[in-house]
Amino acid sequence: MPDPSNDLLVSLYGARHRLCPTPNPALHLVLSLEREIDLIELEQLCDAVGWSRRPLRRVRKALQHSLLCVGLWRHHTRLPKLVGFARCTGDGVVEATVWDVAVHPLYQGAGLGRELMDYVIAELQTLGVDRVSLFADPHVVGFYEGQGWELEPQRRRCAFWYAP
Ligand SMILES: CC(C)(COP(=O)(O)OP(=O)(O)OC[C@H]1O[C@@H](n2cnc3c(N)ncnc32)[C@H](O)[C@@H]1OP(=O)(O)O)[C@@H](O)C(=O)NCCC(=O)NCCS
Repeated sequence: MPDPSNDLLVSLYGARHRLCPTPNPALHLVLSLEREIDLIELEQLCDAVGWSRRPLRRVRKALQHSLLCVGLWRHHTRLPKLVGFARCTGDGVVEATVWDVAVHPLYQGAGLGRELMDYVIAELQTLGVDRVSLFADPHVVGFYEGQGWELEPQRRRCAFWYAP
C-alpha cells in the first residue's frame, strides 16, 4: 500500500492525528482524538482484551463526557479499524485521569501502548493540564512505571473506592 497522503489522513483522522512508526511499510497506524469512536468497534476491542461488557448507552454517555477519547486506528481508506483506545476525564485545566487504556492483543508488544500514552499526555499538556492520575491493574504497573509514572510517591495519598 503506498503511503497515504497527509490530506487523506487529515480528512479521516483530523489535523491533530499522529502516525505511529511501524516496521511494516504496508501497515499504517494512526492516533487520533478527532475521529469518532464507533461503540461497536470499541466493544469488540474491550472483548479482545477481556474486559466485561458495559451497556452501550452508558459507554456513549461516558465518552461524550470525557475530556479526551483517543483511538488508535489501523489505516484503511474506506474502513479504518480501531485497534487501540484510551480516554481521560477531568476538568480540562488542572486535573485529568486516564481510563480504559487498551491495545488489541494482535498489536501488543510493538510499542503502541507507549505511543498511545505519549499522545494522551501530549494532548493533556496542550490543554495545560499538569496533574494526571490513573488506576492501573496490578499486572500492568510495570508498563506505566517504564514510562515515568510513579506509584503514589511517599505514600502520602491512598486511592479509595466507593460504589454506592
Ligand atoms: C497494557 C497495554 C496497553 C500495553 O500495550 P502494548 O502496546 O503491548 O505496550 P508497549 O508495546 O508499548 O510496551 C511498552 C513497554 O512496556 C512494557 N510492557 C507492556 N505491557 C506490560 C505489562 N503488562 N507489564 C509490564 N511491562 C509491560 C513493554 O515490555 C515495553 O517495554 P520496553 O519499552 O522496555 O520494550 C496492553 O497490553 C493492553 O491493552 N492490555 C490489556 C488491557 C489492559 O490491561 N490495560 C491497562 C488497564 S490499567
